[in-house]
Amino acid sequence: MDPRTATRLVVVGQGYVGLPLAVRAVEAGFDVVGFDLDEARIKGLTAGESFVEDVPDAVLQEALRSGRYLPTNEPGRCAGFDVAVIDVPTPLREGNPNLAHVEAAAAMLAQHLRPGATVILESTTYPGTTEELVAPILEDGSGLAAGTDFYLGYSPERIDPGNPTWSLANTPKVVSGVDEASLGAVRAFYDRIVDRTVAVSGTREAELTKLLENTFRHVNIALVNELAMFAGELGIDVWEAIDAASTKPFGYLRFVPGPGVGGHCLPIDPSYLSWKVRRALGQPFRFVELANDINEHMPDYVVHRLVLAFNARGRAVRGATVLLLGLAYKRNTGDARESPGTVIAERLAALGAHVRVADPHLGHDPDGGGALVELSAAELEAADAVVLVTDHDAFDYELVTTHARLVLDTRGRLDGPNVERL
Ligand SMILES: NC(=O)c1ccc[n+]([C@@H]2O[C@H](COP(=O)([O-])OP(=O)(O)OC[C@H]3O[C@@H](n4cnc5c(N)ncnc54)[C@H](O)[C@@H]3O)[C@@H](O)[C@H]2O)c1
Repeated sequence: MDPRTATRLVVVGQGYVGLPLAVRAVEAGFDVVGFDLDEARIKGLTAGESFVEDVPDAVLQEALRSGRYLPTNEPGRCAGFDVAVIDVPTPLREGNPNLAHVEAAAAMLAQHLRPGATVILESTTYPGTTEELVAPILEDGSGLAAGTDFYLGYSPERIDPGNPTWSLANTPKVVSGVDEASLGAVRAFYDRIVDRTVAVSGTREAELTKLLENTFRHVNIALVNELAMFAGELGIDVWEAIDAASTKPFGYLRFVPGPGVGGHCLPIDPSYLSWKVRRALGQPFRFVELANDINEHMPDYVVHRLVLAFNARGRAVRGATVLLLGLAYKRNTGDARESPGTVIAERLAALGAHVRVADPHLGHDPDGGGALVELSAAELEAADAVVLVTDHDAFDYELVTTHARLVLDTRGRLDGPNVERL
């Protein structure tokens, strides 16, 4: 099947990555099966309810109305695909890569693989996964050979939830294949989905590209986090220094301190790389390990700063009411996976604080404990301290600085006599 004219697409995994791809492919003219094992998720999608901010309900409903988008948890509906893309989670298990979801997805697709079809892995993973893990599963399950009978490649996902400027369609997409023919097929598919594709020579280079991008962010965030802790001790305003450094038009990229890293990417992806380096070469990837160490420490540092602030006022954390603003790991999203805010809430609760959380994007009670509340003047006045954890645009910051007694700002967003910055 020529990917320039292919019509049947299967997207395995309908999460933050798979759902936007499915919807975009419908717009591009494909018949799309969105396969996911999560029954509740499929039910919601079938009812036109999106859980991903970047895919508004109206866009999902339009895709459903077109008759060319089928969310399903029945593997049989994946039969007859021209192109299949794997977008399943790649978490860590006890610090090591857990590729069980990728293996299961490949095994399911192998049952339906036909000569001429294309399979693409998008999940973030260590270099070598496509050729060493996915190819044999597809080949064994189908009796077909990668490169000869079907096309196989890797294309990292760069989706940035909540980013109003860069979407799936206008962000350049790195593409690769296990051979020239596969690269051609993978590229032809994405040329119909995104504005620009960037080919690399092999799947390992494409896999490494994604890990490089995320490790770069992870390490630079760790750098400014450590700087923020030292600057705090030295009585220097790190935020002012960062603003000043950011005026340099070359050779500098702005990163800012925060309460720690969260989500599905930064706390996890660099460890895929260090795992691979240690396993293949027997050496530690020191930058990654140091960055993990610093970034994982940040929630404790936030709590430490709050304890100091209370102490300076002759108060204890025990029995105090602390209002956390934002729990999601990232501004303007409701994604609280691996969120440092959850760790901060747990630590404060363990110290005996009454934790309350205001996060307009969070659809459920905080996992780390604490009550989910609306941000209001009364909530702010009732709190002994307010911690700005996630600087959502939806917050009324004037209300915060007007009514809060003490604000610990971990995002460098607020000013005022009652505000302490990280
Ligand atoms: N979220 C991001 O911003 C982002 C950005 C770039 C890359 N990634 C990477 O993309 C991959 C997917 O991440 P995500 O954020 O979309 O995850 P997610 O948890 O939002 O979605 C994954 C979905 O896959 C489903 N699933 C799991 N195993 C399955 C199987 N065998 N068959 C069918 N469905 C299955 C789950 O039920 C879930 O709905 C990960 O490797 C992640 O690192 C994520």
